[in-house]
Amino acid sequence: MAIIPFDDRDGEIWFDGKFIPWRDAKVHILTHALHYGSSVFEGERVYNHEIFKSAEHTDRLFRSATLLNIDVPFSKEEVEQAKTETARRAGYTDAYVRPVIWRGSGSMGVSAPASGVHVAIAVWEWPSYFSPELLERGIDIEMSRWRRPGPESAPCTAKAAGLYIICTLAKEEAELNNCQDALMLDKDGFIAEATGAHIFFVKDGEIHTPALGNFIEGITRATVIDIARARGFKVHERKIKPDELGSFEQCFLTGSAAEVTPVGTIGSHKYEVGAITRGMREDYLNLVRRHATMADFEARTSAAQ
Ligand SMILES: Cc1ncc(COP(=O)(O)O)c(C=O)c1O
Repeated sequence: MAIIPFDDRDGEIWFDGKFIPWRDAKVHILTHALHYGSSVFEGERVYNHEIFKSAEHTDRLFRSATLLNIDVPFSKEEVEQAKTETARRAGYTDAYVRPVIWRGSGSMGVSAPASGVHVAIAVWEWPSYFSPELLERGIDIEMSRWRRPGPESAPCTAKAAGLYIICTLAKEEAELNNCQDALMLDKDGFIAEATGAHIFFVKDGEIHTPALGNFIEGITRATVIDIARARGFKVHERKIKPDELGSFEQCFLTGSAAEVTPVGTIGSHKYEVGAITRGMREDYLNLVRRHATMADFEARTSAAQ
């Protein structure tokens, strides 16, 4: 199916406080963000006409802006309202929400205190990231040659455009090798994350995931940890060495776009799409679609005991 170019679609985009026709949402070529990567953004999903964890995404958007010294010219409440209204006008039952904040063209140069700051929100239809067949057998991941920068080299917990350069390189290299994603190590050589999602492993009925510190605080990551703990699973947030990859039985990715995606292979390591991975995916999709609440997971855990 041909993709409709993103600048040639019907609908409206919220742009600096106003709704404008989709095709008119343009920026000048001399925009600070385009030259120096000074932009932060979010990726959120609408399920049944409601944005999942919208307030958490807005909080993280503002935290990212603060990490880049960007003063947002709107309040969190205004951005929340604008997101809700943009999603309502778009009218999709399920969709993707992309708020973006960037330095404008008021001044150019590495330091640009007078660049001006802009905010826009777009909503589009976006089904599951991966095909049902891939989700059934698990995606293939390549070990990337790129490493995530640490907090001494970059504002690495910001969801900032500039930090995605290596994600794009890593993912495109993986796709050339018939993989769907790439796994990056952190600056110390521990497992960090995939190019747009966090990673979880299962071993002996327990769940392991890299500890926070070198990447964005995942909203799906936190949700999945809550579900897993409510279900009674032990979740270990810790440093994970690449030479442990062979000892895990199952593996999955988490992200607003990726939801819970089973992993079939990382390089030569093979993983089973097992009951825990399937259960986490099912619970997550039931929660976001409001077919279940956290209380249901706790109730079923205690009923089983
Ligand atoms: C680099 C990266 N890591 C992890 C994630 C997952 O974060 P979240 O679950 O908050 O969407 C994303 C997606 O936003 C991402 O781009």
